[in-house]
Amino acid sequence: MERKNFKAMNNFIDLRSDTVTKPSEEMRKAMFKAEVGDDVFQEDPTVNQLQEYAADLLGKEDSLFVLSGVMGNQICLNVLTNPGDEVICERDAHIFQYESGSPAALSGIQIMPVDGNSGVITPIQIEPYIRPTSAYYMPRTKVIEIENTHNRAGGTIHPIENIINVGELAKKYNLFYHLDGARIWNASVASKISVKEYASYFDTVSCCLSKGLGAPVGSIIAGSRDFIKEAFRVRKAWGGGTRQIGILAAAGLYALKNNINRLAEDHEKAKLLAATINNCKKLKINLQSVQTNILIFQSVNISIDDALILCKEKGLLLSTGKPGFLRAITHLDVSFDEIKIASKIIEEVFN
Ligand SMILES: Cc1ncc(COP(=O)(O)O)c(C=O)c1O
Repeated sequence: MERKNFKAMNNFIDLRSDTVTKPSEEMRKAMFKAEVGDDVFQEDPTVNQLQEYAADLLGKEDSLFVLSGVMGNQICLNVLTNPGDEVICERDAHIFQYESGSPAALSGIQIMPVDGNSGVITPIQIEPYIRPTSAYYMPRTKVIEIENTHNRAGGTIHPIENIINVGELAKKYNLFYHLDGARIWNASVASKISVKEYASYFDTVSCCLSKGLGAPVGSIIAGSRDFIKEAFRVRKAWGGGTRQIGILAAAGLYALKNNINRLAEDHEKAKLLAATINNCKKLKINLQSVQTNILIFQSVNISIDDALILCKEKGLLLSTGKPGFLRAITHLDVSFDEIKIASKIIEEVFN
């Protein structure tokens, strides 16, 4: 395994992901002061406080602190399905593209990817893929999943009317409805629709504390009391039962209380960068996809690998999005001044 020199990484403007943030001084103080107990016994007061706070924020009966977004999504899918079942999602969904084949490996289920537009699948696109319950020789469709904001589509916000319509379709066929809301906070701040309203349309929700919100670890899954009881069991079975984890829950609680509204700044930074990218001769961007903190764009006459190297040589780290696309993500550890420098670098490389 390659181990990187972390001091050297500090010299870059790092727009590879909103997961590269470091806990702030205030967040670290909250972690230092956290009261802790054994969370496998459900006796960690800070974890319990986080779970109550998050359940309330999301308008669900209960919630559970888990170690990562992947763990959150996969526990939800595991609880909602039986081996041999099928989950419908958009083809570029994180659960299909980036979760290491876990639906098959951990739950014995398969994904039915449906082609969508900018991460959105509509009832008309979904309905033909719902398996007839009489077909004993087919898998059983159990869950419809959507992602909001959509990572591969460039941080796009899922239109609320479609969320509602797909929810009605799920009800009609007696299917569960799961939200990968890793960045639901960004969707909420940009659309001004509360996370509670977004979550209300779904049976289960997974959302991350360690992306735009700046916590070092963790995600929250939320749903009914019975669902969380089962999720607690699965988390333990998968080795995710931890002890004095309140130290990390304190960071998550701090993030939820202090770092949601400021995401508007990250969206502004993304718009500034998008304007620069749009003016570069060797770059192509769809400005309509720039809705939150993720930018996906294409380079013209310059390979993705070369583009990444040329930017890195000048002190800017970008990453790759879906095949053929470059990606930049703004976050709380990159200032407006650094965005200006990043813009200059982009202009130098791509004009
Ligand atoms: C939409 C989405 N879901 C889930 C995840 C998984 O989160 P984690 O990396 O914490 O496992 C990510 C990570 O980038 C994501 O973008």
